Amino acid sequence: MRSTDKIVRDITGDTINVALPKGRLGEKVYRMFAEAGYPCDGILDDSRKLVFENPEKQIRYFWVKPSDVTIYVERGAADIGVAGKDIILEYRPDVYELLDLKKGKCRMAVAAENGFRDDTSSTLRVATKFPNIARRYYEKESRDIDIINLHGSIELAPVLGLSDVIVDIVETGSTLRENDLYVVDTVVEISARLIANKAAYKFKNDRLSALVEGLRKITEALE
Ligand code: PRP
Repeated sequence: MRSTDKIVRDITGDTINVALPKGRLGEKVYRMFAEAGYPCDGILDDSRKLVFENPEKQIRYFWVKPSDVTIYVERGAADIGVAGKDIILEYRPDVYELLDLKKGKCRMAVAAENGFRDDTSSTLRVATKFPNIARRYYEKESRDIDIINLHGSIELAPVLGLSDVIVDIVETGSTLRENDLYVVDTVVEISARLIANKAAYKFKNDRLSALVEGLRKITEALE
């Protein structure tokens, strides 16, 4: 079978394919799916298995690297998925955003060393894992910047003088505090979102709408 046959079969079939972000957030979100009526045996067991299916409920889950969920959904390998608003804003995938799941709440922020003030006389060096979000933020501020694209431990950059500021995720704020950094400005509030492949949303609309409604009720109860 060619890979395209498989995608067509899945998009028009009855089984809902869900890309969940591997890790603690994904486990919390899976529990919401289970509560909404779509449980799946063995999915939370400690194993290396990546695909889990409940044929009776016609649902199949994949554990995916969190930053890759949008790719699986945009290309139709998954019908729906759960991705952080940070990833959605950074990559702007061509998908529908269906629901704020109200989990994984944090914010994207500009941070700098305690005492830092931007004097705007020279190009601002910005270290980040989110170059597109950072660029858009500083475009609005009409500020000249030099992006330093890192992949982790972003907080180290201003401490070592590699950058003036960082644009990064702040959840509890402890990483900033423990490295003598402070939040200069909040760029955007972040939380996990339910996203859908556009074709799958059309072909599986009845099934997906029922699932979204179930999840919506659960998120409303969280407020
Ligand atoms: C994220 C983020 C911050 C930290 C914020 O990093 O990039 O470094 O969490 O959390 P806090 O406000 O609760 O301290 P992550 O743990 O994903 O690792 P990374 O440094 O490899 O990006």
